[in-house]
Amino acid sequence: MCPDDSAIRTRTREDYDVLTKRRVQLVDFEPCEGGFLRDVLDGLGQTPKTLPCKYFYDERGSRLFDAICELDEYYLTRTEIAIMRDNGRAIGRAIGPGCCLVEFGSGSSVKTRLLLDHLDDPVACILIDISRKHLLESAAELADQYPDLQVIAVCADFASNCELPCPRRAAARRAVYFPGSTIGNFRPADAEQLLRRIARIVGRGGGLLIGADLKKDRETLERAYNDRAGVTSAFNLNLLHRINRELGADFDLDAFRHRATYNAAHGRIESHLVSRRAQTVRLNGSVFRFERGETIHTESSHKYSLDGFRALADRAGFDVQDVWTDERGLFSVQYLTTR
Ligand code: TRP
Repeated sequence: MCPDDSAIRTRTREDYDVLTKRRVQLVDFEPCEGGFLRDVLDGLGQTPKTLPCKYFYDERGSRLFDAICELDEYYLTRTEIAIMRDNGRAIGRAIGPGCCLVEFGSGSSVKTRLLLDHLDDPVACILIDISRKHLLESAAELADQYPDLQVIAVCADFASNCELPCPRRAAARRAVYFPGSTIGNFRPADAEQLLRRIARIVGRGGGLLIGADLKKDRETLERAYNDRAGVTSAFNLNLLHRINRELGADFDLDAFRHRATYNAAHGRIESHLVSRRAQTVRLNGSVFRFERGETIHTESSHKYSLDGFRALADRAGFDVQDVWTDERGLFSVQYLTTR
């Protein structure tokens, strides 16, 4: 169940300081090593071209995403935080005392704190994130704010199999916290598989607190993914920037633009990078041709109805215990338990 100490490693002097001074343990599965080049070559080789969205979150990408979360147009984060704030006590009661909280995709820690403040005697908080620096910062901050809580940072792709460390103190149950409607970034079949894996991780009597964005009018949805200030565009294009920097490709960033549209038939926002002209891009000895107007599909964000989400949860072995939404029904926070 518990990985041995060899998995617990530190890399830089700076990280070492964070970890020792601030009581954070790190378990590093080195999630991006090697796979990045392979995944990019594979995605650009497909028709239509595609790139996996998990690579958005390098350091700059994580910062840009934090900025997206503060945009007027991006109603998701604001609404989810309000739901957490308005229903904190009920949420804390649903999860119950003595839990080991496991957060998937730790991101920024505002929502985690809102949750922790309402939990009765949590034994530990395990944060899992693919972006190492961001993860360590969130974990250190949390450890400072909750001196009695054991904080463990796990650097990993939460969609892959990784063993979770065991907290020092035995937990009454495990609860996974999966906010941000990140579940919507998985295709329904993959979402089902991921939920099934979470059900296995929390085991019997465990639970999953999950944020799921809801279906709504096209205009509101498309505005959320096409902000006026161009932050979302910079976030999407940063993926090409990262491929240039880390893998030595020669993408001309001015020759692509961001586009996000709602596909009502599939109930999802589809984000693309559109080639402004016919061009070729070189990467690692391969040449990729783009027609003018050809796109790279970078992400889908699925939107659910409450019924649709319950059906998904059910297929994965969860019962929906509680659903909290905002007044306008924009977003939902749901507590699912295993049967
Ligand atoms: N998980 C976020 C979402 O689907 C990520 C995101 C927000 C995103 N805006 C984006 C991804 C624009 C790609 C392009 O809402």
